[in-house]
Amino acid sequence: MIIAIDGPAASGKGTIARRLAHKYGLHHLDTGLLYRAVAKAVLDAGFPPDDIGQAIAAAAALDPEKFDESALKTQQITEAASVVAAIPQVRAALMNYQRAFAQKPPGVVLDGRDIGTVIAPAAEVKLFVFASPQVRAKRRVAELKARGEEADEQAVLADLVRRDERDSRRAAAPLMPAPDAHLLDTTHLDIDAALRAAVAIIEAVRTGRKRG
Ligand code: C5P
Repeated sequence: MIIAIDGPAASGKGTIARRLAHKYGLHHLDTGLLYRAVAKAVLDAGFPPDDIGQAIAAAAALDPEKFDESALKTQQITEAASVVAAIPQVRAALMNYQRAFAQKPPGVVLDGRDIGTVIAPAAEVKLFVFASPQVRAKRRVAELKARGEEADEQAVLADLVRRDERDSRRAAAPLMPAPDAHLLDTTHLDIDAALRAAVAIIEAVRTGRKRG
């Protein structure tokens, strides 16, 4: 089984993906980490994230087995990731790894921006998880504060909106729901309720398949 989960930043998709993988005994890949790792490699080498040649070389040389996840979550890398992610050749270089991962038995949960549309268009279940920008900014602030970082809600909101726009407007694999994705609005849901809603969608799809 392949479960594809897409959506904007801080929509809850990452936590939902992790918990679904645990519940169903599936492998999980947070595909945002791939773009973050490319961004980090470019920045660490002293280049700006829109240096196309450097970004393509970093994507080609990436070893996803060697990620230090906590080092990839800084605000600077978050922003730079969405810049390298707009480069078509970077996306192409990361595609094989994601598609191969998607074939792992007994199944996978992949979360990102283009999983249901590009990486795994034949996924059994596709979720598009979203929430209002204001609620997503509040969640991000709470996350940052829990890590002991200072955060200004208006600045976080502005960053989120800018990144959503870049991710949605780019020509290469823009953030958008697949036509057959189930939309899950988490604006008024806490994480437990969001997970229940996701499970309900998955169970309905599976039951429908068994009947059909
Ligand atoms: O999901 P996360 O916030 O870690 O993703 C960081 C950035 O990586 C996103 O803003 C987006 O530009 C890019 N990304 C992408 N396609 C994916 C996953 C992430 O373009 N499948």
